[in-house]
Amino acid sequence: MRIPIIAANWKMHKTVPEARAYLERLVKLAGRDPGVEVAVFPSFTALPAAAEILRGTSIALGAQDAHPEPAGAYTGAVSVAQVADLSVRYVLCGHSERRKLFGEDDLLVGRKVRAALDHGLAPILCVGETLDERRAGRAWEVVERQLDRGLSSVGDDPDGLVIAYEPVWAIGTGVAAQPADAQEMANRIRSWLRDRFGASGGEVRIQYGGSVNPNNARAFLSLPDVAGALVGGASLDPDAFWAIVHAVRT
Ligand code: 13P
Repeated sequence: MRIPIIAANWKMHKTVPEARAYLERLVKLAGRDPGVEVAVFPSFTALPAAAEILRGTSIALGAQDAHPEPAGAYTGAVSVAQVADLSVRYVLCGHSERRKLFGEDDLLVGRKVRAALDHGLAPILCVGETLDERRAGRAWEVVERQLDRGLSSVGDDPDGLVIAYEPVWAIGTGVAAQPADAQEMANRIRSWLRDRFGASGGEVRIQYGGSVNPNNARAFLSLPDVAGALVGGASLDPDAFWAIVHAVRT
């Protein structure tokens, strides 16, 4: 039984007071038991306040990124070791915006995955093809390469790993993937995970991300190989985000 994980990736949004107001509202909405796993990924600046507000609740905290080196001369970077200090449970590794805007390659992404595991955190490895790659019939080739390299230093046990399939062309565009296409890709990822990890590959949760909103969430969350969503724009309002969480239960 895979418990779905619905995650709010705020990206570069919200000051600390805005983050506080959001999370106080979300905690009220969540009540005691949301029935699924809910995780919020604020900016680094809001992580301490978020950790304080979410302490003792069922809502998990995640970091949008983290540097694999524990410490050192990396101006502007924040290490996995540093976020691990803040009650963070998840780390996004290789989000397409990091890959595209900050030039991250598969090798660095793989090091982040390894560092997260080494610190007892759960990596969410983000994979997905661009529109050109999809049109050229190369979507699976790209995703397979991202899986292969991103997980190259993970041993036989996928232990806490989550995969987020986010087609780049669906991110922030309002044009989500067709649910059938998301299922097809999730199923290929599932087969790959089984080949790579054996039976425990069947337990790894695969999220869909890319223009998920309260109206389309159910179509994705009911797919057999999808167990969760990674939500950007529609997660910025706590009530809209909660409507997406709710979609998994109805
Ligand atoms: P949108 O939901 O805004 O398309 O963003 C998706 C995403 O990148 C989540 O990580």
